Amino acid sequence: MLMTATRTAQAATRRAPRAARKVKASTGEARVEAFLADASLHLRGSPEGRTPARFGVDLGTATIVLTALDDHGRPAYWDFVRATVVRDGVVVDFQGAVDAVRTLKARAEAALGITVDEAATAHPPAVPSSDCRACHFVLQQAGIECRALVDEVTAANALLQVRDGAVIDVGGGSTGVGVFRSGELVSLSDQAGGGHQLDLILAGALKLSIEEAEVRKREHGADVASLLRPGIERIAESIRRQCGGTPPGIVHLAGGALRLPQADTVIARYLGWPVHAYDHAELITPFGIAVS
Ligand SMILES: Nc1ncnc2c1ncn2[C@@H]1O[C@H](COP(=O)(O)OP(=O)(O)OP(=O)(O)O)[C@@H](O)[C@H]1O
Ligand SMILES: [Mg+2]
Repeated sequence: MLMTATRTAQAATRRAPRAARKVKASTGEARVEAFLADASLHLRGSPEGRTPARFGVDLGTATIVLTALDDHGRPAYWDFVRATVVRDGVVVDFQGAVDAVRTLKARAEAALGITVDEAATAHPPAVPSSDCRACHFVLQQAGIECRALVDEVTAANALLQVRDGAVIDVGGGSTGVGVFRSGELVSLSDQAGGGHQLDLILAGALKLSIEEAEVRKREHGADVASLLRPGIERIAESIRRQCGGTPPGIVHLAGGALRLPQADTVIARYLGWPVHAYDHAELITPFGIAVS
């Protein structure tokens, strides 16, 4: 698997221009950076003067996240649990997913002194509508009315507000890609491959369990960067393919999987396209869901 990834990466590296083109923040990107920096401060707590009023639930492969905005659209609260109840965009452990959402709802209500009655949620692009409905039922069973069900890339862009460019969500299990032109979504797709595949590479290379590899990756990302490079280039190749091989404008990176040191540089070099990465990129889709 590693061999294949390496060969694919080398082949495409020959095709792509080599200059890294990481993009400096524009006004829109600076707004998002400020929002995310602010949001990151409110894990399991709400700042004075902000009443959580609009909720989102992200049923991810690696992480289930509950987010809240106040009436002015400011980040007001978030919480997460790590759970493997969703695979390839499909809820594979319905009761586990309900329990995770119930836990998040109960913790939010205890911390905030309010009730969480309704929330938006999201599904990966390109999952069948029956699987999308499962997300709706998970919330319902957990005592939350589903006020909106959107795809994850559209949710991410509700926060990012990209008018021309690509929005990429690299999560635990898959890489979703949406291309926007003049504010319209012109292509939307999703392919397997994300942070979990990086764990598998690391586990194989260092003879660790997948759980140990996950911890090593998060806590010592810089030390394992060279081992993970082929895996990150494989994600870049997935992005390139899903964009039809054509530069889409600025590539905006959301999702937790590329939070590794220098991952954005590897992606930018591989693609030869302008790339913008965000601190706290793992919060973009969850808060985008609350915005939706
Ligand atoms: N600091 C970090 N360094 C490296 N990887 C990280 C870091 N933080 C999170 N990750 C990785 O990000 C992934 C989880 O990201 P995210 O929460 O966006 O995924 P998800 O929404 O649960 O999955 P999906 O969108 O595919 O359903 C995991 O693979 C995790 O290992
Ligand atoms: Mg996700």
